[in-house]
Amino acid sequence: MRADMHMHDALLQARNLAKYYPVAQRWLKPRGLARALDGVSFALARGKTLAVVGESGCGKSTLARQIAMIEPPTSGELWMAGANIAQAGRAARKRVRPLVQMVFQNPYASLNPRKKVGAMLEEPLIINTRLKPAQRAERAYAMMARVGLRPEHYGRYPHMFSGGQRQRIAIARALMLDPQVIVADEPLSALDVSIQAQVLNLLMDLQQSSGVAYLFISHNLAVVEHIADEVLVMYLGKTVEHGSKREVFTRPLHPYTKALLASTPRIDPAQRQKKIILSGELPSPLAPPPGCAFNTRCPHARTQCREQVPPLNVFQGRQVACHRIAEIS
Ligand SMILES: Nc1ncnc2c1ncn2[C@@H]1O[C@H](COP(=O)(O)OP(=O)(O)OP(=O)(O)O)[C@@H](O)[C@H]1O
Ligand SMILES: [Mg+2]
Repeated sequence: MRADMHMHDALLQARNLAKYYPVAQRWLKPRGLARALDGVSFALARGKTLAVVGESGCGKSTLARQIAMIEPPTSGELWMAGANIAQAGRAARKRVRPLVQMVFQNPYASLNPRKKVGAMLEEPLIINTRLKPAQRAERAYAMMARVGLRPEHYGRYPHMFSGGQRQRIAIARALMLDPQVIVADEPLSALDVSIQAQVLNLLMDLQQSSGVAYLFISHNLAVVEHIADEVLVMYLGKTVEHGSKREVFTRPLHPYTKALLASTPRIDPAQRQKKIILSGELPSPLAPPPGCAFNTRCPHARTQCREQVPPLNVFQGRQVACHRIAEIS
């Protein structure tokens, strides 16, 4: 991906975003800083989906929380609606906050059990608009229809719904203020497999009709292959590869991306990669390996990889962070 690709239509830009969590001393373990997110940059364009993939613990949810403005980053910039939210004052944050909404993994935990669906959908309107009650109800009913809920659901409580329907409610609530960006952190993984495709198709239809952009986090590469325009592969808080979905899936370049794709069953034999087994565990973000963070598990690692952090460079039309990429690709 060219760095300037979205200069005109970028809704949101992250530049070198980092989040370090102080970790208290525990039994035999030193105090330290967990580098959960360690300098990630990207641009998100209107109506597009950027998928973020990587193993458990690589920092996907931490990135999601920074983008959704749930917590402030340790450093870096987050540009949206003309302001750098990462450093902006309260007024600017308040103006921009409704533009980014979040859909969480677990629709059982993310919906208030004491609120009826209608009230839940109207809540953001009460806080952010001056619409009258009848107008709010009208918007709620219209949104329910868009996400496939029936009018009689308006007066029901969350416990009366299945997981898939609850996630539809959560999606409806996220859309009430007509956001520009939805951050979806594993939005399908708590749902029955039989329901996942329906909710995935709903998300894609809603993007078509509204132009909302998705930052879509998933460990399910089949889902990512379906919904993404671009794919960003993270390892230990850093981007190792970022490019178009088609390029990353048909020809992964970084050894970590190759390993990740190889560990997923692919239907098309032509797409099957030479097996690279992901051996060993993800190192701790408290003590990332020096040099390339992937060097401890990489079949191509050399001395340089153990000593110098590889820069994220443009290579064959996308961004890759690997010292040896020209030799091994
Ligand atoms: N509040 C926190 N305090 C300390 N460490 C944290 C905190 N939040 C996350 N971490 C650490 O940061 C790293 C990244 O966590 P994160 O939840 O972002 O990963 P993830 O990619 O979303 O994983 P998963 O796929 O399991 O959801 C982990 O090592 C985690 O332990
Ligand atoms: Mg997570």
